[in-house]
Amino acid sequence: MQELIYGCMGLGGSWSDEPHGSDHVDEAAAAVDAALDAGITLFDHADIYRNGKSEAVFGEVLAARPGLRDRIRLQTKCGIRLSEPGIPGHYDLSRDAILERVNASLKRLRTDYVDILLLHRPDPLADPAEVAGAVGHLMAEGKVRQLGVSNMSAAQIEVLQDQLETPVVANQLEMSLLKRAWLESHVLVNHSEHLDYSFPHGTVEHCIRNGITLQAYGSLARGLYTGAEPDSPSSAETATSELVARLAADYGTSGEAVLLGWLMKHPAGIAPVIGTVNPGRIRACRDAGRVAQAMTRAEWYQLWVTARGSNIP
Ligand SMILES: NC(=O)c1ccc[n+]([C@@H]2O[C@H](COP(=O)([O-])OP(=O)(O)OC[C@H]3O[C@@H](n4cnc5c(N)ncnc54)[C@H](OP(=O)(O)O)[C@@H]3O)[C@@H](O)[C@H]2O)c1
Repeated sequence: MQELIYGCMGLGGSWSDEPHGSDHVDEAAAAVDAALDAGITLFDHADIYRNGKSEAVFGEVLAARPGLRDRIRLQTKCGIRLSEPGIPGHYDLSRDAILERVNASLKRLRTDYVDILLLHRPDPLADPAEVAGAVGHLMAEGKVRQLGVSNMSAAQIEVLQDQLETPVVANQLEMSLLKRAWLESHVLVNHSEHLDYSFPHGTVEHCIRNGITLQAYGSLARGLYTGAEPDSPSSAETATSELVARLAADYGTSGEAVLLGWLMKHPAGIAPVIGTVNPGRIRACRDAGRVAQAMTRAEWYQLWVTARGSNIP
């Protein structure tokens, strides 16, 4: 199903281990309200976001609103360990880490289950059979309903899928009009320019063939084309911002809806994850599906070519 997803990485205050304040809970509640107004019902978390505080403030919102949990779906991730004194940040998809991290997320989120668990990044030391065993255990306990991955290639998904008893349902990757390697690599197959783009070939196609939803993070390009005002924008960035604004005016909507509609028009059925905490900007995303339906082929290509700053081959 093609939909917008609300990314909760911005909720909860600082990344330090200082406790969050009640103002952060209020901010999360306002973001949830804005997301619901925009028609969003899937909320994306990770155990590490703001050192656990993104999940904690969200859990407080859920606790204060009986019935909300049944109206939404929750997704969280495990597999990354932030750095600690003397220990660099690293990945950990061992059985113990998966079980411990998911149980801690459920406690913070104040819920019995997550609808989707994503494995945040590939861990080179992971044993796929061990990962599958841990996930199967959580599913049997009713704590995880579906499994997805993030930042993984087609080959990495296949190795994992071989061991799993349930299908991988999602792959979350950075995809936007700014981060276009997923798209550039598709058309530059037989062209020297392909060396400028690093993207595991066949990953988008693998997800399409296997019904794996591509979830696009960074989908708003962190505001680059909708008013975030970088210090010294390139001519392509300025031209893209102007084009996004013109198309938004033509469609009677926001620049955010144009950026997301551009992603959603792709036949892979991309689900953009939006990470703004600003309620106005969250609501500004609500027309994305309508824009995707209405956007012409010429407009879609014009956005792409303008963002890349040169014609396609
Ligand atoms: N799987 C992964 O490895 C991974 C990695 C990164 C993120 N994610 C997920 O994807 C979600 C979205 O990612 P993201 O937050 O990086 O991407 P995003 O939605 O493209 O960008 C959101 C950021 O851009 C800022 N922004 C957007 N429009 C703006 C504007 N017009 N003016 C000023 N600032 C603007 C927001 O600030 P304001 O809040 O002030 O609007 C916020 O800091 C995250 O919340 C998280 O759930 C996943």
